[in-house]
Amino acid sequence: VSLRPFNTFGLDARAAHYAELSDLADLPALLAHTTYRQGPVLWLGGGSNMLFTRDWAGLVVRVATRGVRVVEDAGDRVIIEAAAGETWHDFVGHTLALGLSGLENLSLIPGTVGASPVQNIGAYGVEVKDSITEVVCADLAAGGALRVLSNAECRFGYRDSVFKHEMAGRLLVTAVRFALTRGGVANTAYGDIGAELAARGIGAPTPAEVGEAVCTIRRRKLPDPAVLGNAGSFFKNPVLDADAAARLIERHPTLPHYPAPGGRVKLAAGWLIDQAGLKGYRAGDAGVHEKQALVLVNHGEASGAELLALARRVQETVRERYGVELEPEPLVI
Ligand code: EPU
Repeated sequence: VSLRPFNTFGLDARAAHYAELSDLADLPALLAHTTYRQGPVLWLGGGSNMLFTRDWAGLVVRVATRGVRVVEDAGDRVIIEAAAGETWHDFVGHTLALGLSGLENLSLIPGTVGASPVQNIGAYGVEVKDSITEVVCADLAAGGALRVLSNAECRFGYRDSVFKHEMAGRLLVTAVRFALTRGGVANTAYGDIGAELAARGIGAPTPAEVGEAVCTIRRRKLPDPAVLGNAGSFFKNPVLDADAAARLIERHPTLPHYPAPGGRVKLAAGWLIDQAGLKGYRAGDAGVHEKQALVLVNHGEASGAELLALARRVQETVRERYGVELEPEPLVI
């Protein structure tokens, strides 16, 4: 089976076996199936955070469960649960249509609801961990028995969670519960959101209006995977100790930086790549996006190996020039 439709880089990797899980009731049977037991098994959501450099010799399972329900409505605070296979942006749109705030800054992020806690997706001063109350998971080592993890148990960090570490390959996210609010909006102080709202003549925006402003801002800089293959930011913004960051900022005063937990400092990797002269760089069909250097793009027929080679070149260049190590964000297969 070609995985091209199932990864946003549009890479033509192949899976020896492919299955879609659209009903959780089928999970025990899937876990007991010979093909599953033979492995290796790769679980896939929207395929928007993955770089295939080779074929997959085992089974790929795409999580396609659907369903959104309000669990609790206390007027100004609403708990809403969405199944893992729901498309993230559509789910956000659903909450905005209900007049709920919390996820508006996360509009237009590719991928599924189930993937959102895994890398704690974030944009414009908001992370999904700010709204998540609980994550419902299937324990793959226990026949798919359901377990509910609290927000604290997920141990969220910057683009990070327990699902990338101890629980990788062990817990499958099946649904996510969010606490959203009626009245007010999450954060319009960040980046261009205020300017975008002002340009629209909006003084006291609704969550939906903030969501629309975010979509406009993202469309300006970030490539639409349906048009130009990509996996969003290819690198994390590096987080340095205060001393190391201060030395670097002294030498490069225009380097954008932000406070990070523990007195550390987060640097804009996009700026480092851009200033290293790599913005818009191309090696065949593998490229650095011309409007946002943190995004690697597939101009057409790039292979995963070519994109990985480009990523290494970007890492080397930034290391040589700034002594900073860039860590890829997507899962490299
Ligand atoms: N910059 C440059 N040149 C570039 C890109 C960025 O100079 O080519 C500068 C910008 O001018 C700005 C700073 O770097 O001063 C930061 O850029 P931007 O606001 O575009 O955000 P980012 O740090 O590059 C992060 C997230 C994005 C998220 C945006 C908006 C990560 C790895 N990326 O990017 O998330 O949309 O903030 O909040 O944290 C993703 O994870 O896939 C993603 C798109």
